[in-house]
Amino acid sequence: MSNSPLTNRRLFVRLVVALIVTSLMLKNLISQQNAYDVQLFSDNTVNARKESEDEAEEADEVESESCLRPRRNSNVAAKSPLRPPFINLGMPKMGSTSLDSYFKCGGYNSVHWTCGGRMCADCIVKGIKAGLPPFSKCNIKNVDAYAQMDRGPENLVQVNYLNEIVRGVPNATFILTFRNMTKWYISLTNWPPKQPENNMRMRFERENITGLPKGVGRNVSEFSSFYCEYVKRVREEVAKYPGSELIEIDIEDALVGWQMEEVFGTNHMCWGDRNGGYTKNMTVTEEELQ
Ligand SMILES: *[C@@H]1O[C@H](CO)[C@@H](O)[C@H](O)[C@H]1NC(C)=O
Ligand SMILES: *[C@@H]1O[C@H](CO)[C@@H](O)[C@H](O)[C@H]1NC(C)=O
Ligand SMILES: *[C@@H]1O[C@H](CO)[C@@H](O)[C@H](O)[C@H]1NC(C)=O
Ligand SMILES: *[C@@H]1O[C@H](CO)[C@@H](O)[C@H](O)[C@H]1NC(C)=O
Ligand SMILES: *[C@@H]1O[C@H](CO)[C@@H](O)[C@H](O)[C@H]1NC(C)=O
Repeated sequence: MSNSPLTNRRLFVRLVVALIVTSLMLKNLISQQNAYDVQLFSDNTVNARKESEDEAEEADEVESESCLRPRRNSNVAAKSPLRPPFINLGMPKMGSTSLDSYFKCGGYNSVHWTCGGRMCADCIVKGIKAGLPPFSKCNIKNVDAYAQMDRGPENLVQVNYLNEIVRGVPNATFILTFRNMTKWYISLTNWPPKQPENNMRMRFERENITGLPKGVGRNVSEFSSFYCEYVKRVREEVAKYPGSELIEIDIEDALVGWQMEEVFGTNHMCWGDRNGGYTKNMTVTEEELQ
């Protein structure tokens, strides 16, 4: 067994990842002061109370506890490749299309928005409200991956029913996606393309979402605070169930394909940006970007 091609391939992938990670760490070390400044800026409400503390110590703490960056998925090596169901707890415009095509490419049955001809979000809420497991009212079988459960901000089921979903699907592999908050904001603002009067950002602002009440969501800072608190909730909630796993990835990381291969086994070539292309059309004001 230890000489099987699968095991050798996984060892090779780990070696490649380790080498690239080491070189990146060296590079990061050099730019750490810069990165830290940016982090504090986007995360200022959370870290304000620490400001008077020793700077070097603080940098370490912010680095390891950041709610806007993925934690290293260090505890999964023994369990990998991970088993389905794979459930994406991330946000719209944060890699769900890439996750969907990644799992499909790996031969898994992945759903994206729709579950058996209806919106996944709606059948999930129906199941939960009936006191049943989250997917029990979704008329669909043998799903390996739920790449997107929500129906956009109007039914952001993974946020509003986080506890019920995590509790209700035992031994699941949850995925939490991260990306630069400014880029996320721009992406929301530009989606769908050519529809500036009703973009995804405005739809978030209009809805009453857990952690993002109606009227909030007007600038990067408000989205950052919302996402930070959500990330903390997700980490806390999944940690209550030892059979469940939480995989955190930065969809903008050049290494994300390799990281996915390391934990899921599916080839890194299956990863690619399938729904981007509009993220560079910046139509938001400087003020909103603060
Ligand atoms: C979850 O995993 C544990 C340990 O592997 C196992 O004992 C348990 O039966 C699993 N639960 C379900 C519902 O599959
Ligand atoms: C996020 O992206 C913006 C715009 O490209 C950039 O100015 C900023 O430095 C980035 N923030 C982080 C934390 O990398
Ligand atoms: C928003 O939802 C919360 C429950 O999640 C509720 O308590 C609150 O009244 C709602 N606010 C509005 C304006 O509907
Ligand atoms: C970018 O925005 C401009 C004006 O806001 C618009 O004319 C153009 O079509 C947009 N480009 C894309 C790719 O959406
Ligand atoms: C974000 O918008 C809110 C509401 O307009 C405002 O109170 C807050 O100061 C803004 N934050 C930044 C950093 O501009």
